[in-house]
Amino acid sequence: MKDLLSINQLSEEDITHIYEIAKDYKKKYKNNQKKFTDLKGYSVLLPFFENSTRTRTSFELAGKILSADTININSSQSSVKKGENLYDTIKTLEAMNSDFIVIRHYMSGAPHIVAKEIKSRIINAGDGMNEHPSQALIDGFTILEEKGEIKNLKIVIIGDILHSRVARSDIKLFKKLGAEVTLCAPITMIPRYAQTLGADYITTNIEDALKDKDVAIFLRIQLERQSKVYFTSLNEYSIKYGLNQERLNLLKEDAVIMHPGPVNRGIEIQSELVYGNRSLILEQVENGLFIRKAIYKFLLEKTGG
Ligand code: CP
Repeated sequence: MKDLLSINQLSEEDITHIYEIAKDYKKKYKNNQKKFTDLKGYSVLLPFFENSTRTRTSFELAGKILSADTININSSQSSVKKGENLYDTIKTLEAMNSDFIVIRHYMSGAPHIVAKEIKSRIINAGDGMNEHPSQALIDGFTILEEKGEIKNLKIVIIGDILHSRVARSDIKLFKKLGAEVTLCAPITMIPRYAQTLGADYITTNIEDALKDKDVAIFLRIQLERQSKVYFTSLNEYSIKYGLNQERLNLLKEDAVIMHPGPVNRGIEIQSELVYGNRSLILEQVENGLFIRKAIYKFLLEKTGG
């Protein structure tokens, strides 16, 4: 394996191994070890064709902490704006001897296409509505830290399932690790092929969906991917599917809430609950750094350094 494109590529053992590496980096960080040389002499290029705060920053910072030379490529300031196509852009980056290319693209499958054509290790940092494997690894790691085990946990994913690459990767990862997964969304935001995504249950009723769950993951309403109207107003969505205190009380007493970010405050989650005592949202962000370091190291191991 030279690339990380999909959770499908990872066995349960691979995921556990990535978590062991991440745990080790986290432990060392807590013991004040803040710089490593695992990627000394390696280059990491980060072409992002869609906006990002968490993913781009943490992949870049993780690379720098591991002593890689990292370069951001913002598509709006690159030759993409002059009409250069994806293949030629990535081939150009490969010609600069890039060891890792961390790519985010609005087209589902874009990282898979380039990975076949070039020698650099490709990391999928989110492709269209398809997958966001590093986010799923973060979500699993964060749950594992909080709950000790993922096997047999009841996890519900709520919101814009139709457009969510996070949901697609999360379902795969949680099922590999033995959790029960429920999806909940307005009927217009449940894909017609939802049964094939691998979840155990699908419902439009949020009260049923939250009852007795260990973990509730809320998804951002992705207005930028919506060419049609899926609900009458954001206010209506918030009333029918947003998390409030009453709905929080339906979860298990020790349940936690999560969100991959960015949050539409007051729509998916009531503002005062976003960083409340049941929320792991900032833990997800913090863990992003350790998981992304672990992904680099894992791919180095897989490709013989
Ligand atoms: N979760 C996530 O992908 O966030 P960004 O879009 O900020 O990277």
